[in-house]
Amino acid sequence: MTQEPPTRPLRVALVGTGAIAHAHAAAVAADPGAEVVAVADPAAEVRATFTERFGVPRTYPDLAALLAGEAGVDVVHLCTPPGLHRDQAVQALSAGAHVVCEKPPVLSLTELDDVLAAARAADRQYAVVFQQRTGTAVGHVQRLLASGELGRPLVGICHTLWYRKQEDYYAVPWRGRWATEGGGPLLGLGIHQLDLLAFLLGDWAEVDARAFRLDRDVETEDTSVATVRFANGAVVSVVTTALAPRQTSYVRVDTTTATVEVEHLYGHDASSWRLTPAPGRTGGEHPEAPASWALPADDEPSGHVPLLRAVYDALRSGGPLPPVAAEPYRSLELVTAIYASAALGRPVTPADLAPGSPLRDGFAHDGVEDLRALSTHRS
Ligand SMILES: NC(=O)c1ccc[n+]([C@@H]2O[C@H](COP(=O)([O-])OP(=O)(O)OC[C@H]3O[C@@H](n4cnc5c(N)ncnc54)[C@H](O)[C@@H]3O)[C@@H](O)[C@H]2O)c1
Repeated sequence: MTQEPPTRPLRVALVGTGAIAHAHAAAVAADPGAEVVAVADPAAEVRATFTERFGVPRTYPDLAALLAGEAGVDVVHLCTPPGLHRDQAVQALSAGAHVVCEKPPVLSLTELDDVLAAARAADRQYAVVFQQRTGTAVGHVQRLLASGELGRPLVGICHTLWYRKQEDYYAVPWRGRWATEGGGPLLGLGIHQLDLLAFLLGDWAEVDARAFRLDRDVETEDTSVATVRFANGAVVSVVTTALAPRQTSYVRVDTTTATVEVEHLYGHDASSWRLTPAPGRTGGEHPEAPASWALPADDEPSGHVPLLRAVYDALRSGGPLPPVAAEPYRSLELVTAIYASAALGRPVTPADLAPGSPLRDGFAHDGVEDLRALSTHRS
């Protein structure tokens, strides 16, 4: 039986008070129907910096202590290292809280199965933060593509060309290791762009990929390349790296009637998007775009604020999760398929990731051995 949503402000707890937790606290503060009542983090100094900035009523060293000390927390946000997401999500859901989890949702499809089973059993929601899906511009473009108004998608590009230094980014102990991060830049960084791509193009059909460790002193890959074929027939070239000094996040889809592009770094607004009609579509070599393609004037950028507003609205109404926070499988499947294809040296299809497949268990358990296969295969 579905539980009644609360009519008072949502009581929110943040677990992990590091870098991204600040964006969560700011987004909660922007919502008059929600309040942060407690946080948990074993690092006392990090916790102190956070509470000094946001003035949180109560703090705890870990999630278990928080759940024991706080009656009636409605939503637990997981802002912790990815290797903790599965157990913490199951713990919070089983205690009766909804969960908003930072990307990557978990380290493997099997872990995602576990979390969603716990959510169903508890009749609670599990929302993942893929904020590239949010903002007025992306919603408009997604609707134009889904309705067919932009023609049939044919070919695309999905680039996560970011720069992460050894001495700071990879100095954090959980990063760059299969056991704690579950993957390299593909899972940790590129999943944002893959998620946006899949939000625009829908189900994938086949992945052919290679992974490399070109420069960073890490256990995982630092660069990967892939060809992804979507169920709608579109073929997309995906490059993900932590080694690109001029950083960019770029997604492009060429359809039968238009080129759709978004270029930004960590967040986009209407100025990041460009829709170019095909030559000759309306007569001339450089035709005007139809008025219906124009991006909305009431532009709201992508980010945690619109994502949390949409998720909280769903929690307050008792309705299903909004499209911007639903379907966590798609981008995690794409990441898994890219690693699997690189490891196996052959194209991978959704059938390879069907229930019972060992590929669903991901790469955290024997990543070093897998990486050896990734690095040497076909060379
Ligand atoms: N959506 C985005 O744009 C975005 C950006 C950055 C990071 N992230 C994601 O957010 C998550 C956290 O990343 P971060 O950069 O904030 O990391 P971080 O290292 O800055 O913060 C993580 C915090 O978790 C705490 N922690 C560790 N173990 C804990 C435990 N058992 N219980 C409670 N807290 C614990 C650490 O002490 C630390 O303060 C990762 O999944 C990351 O991929 C998302």
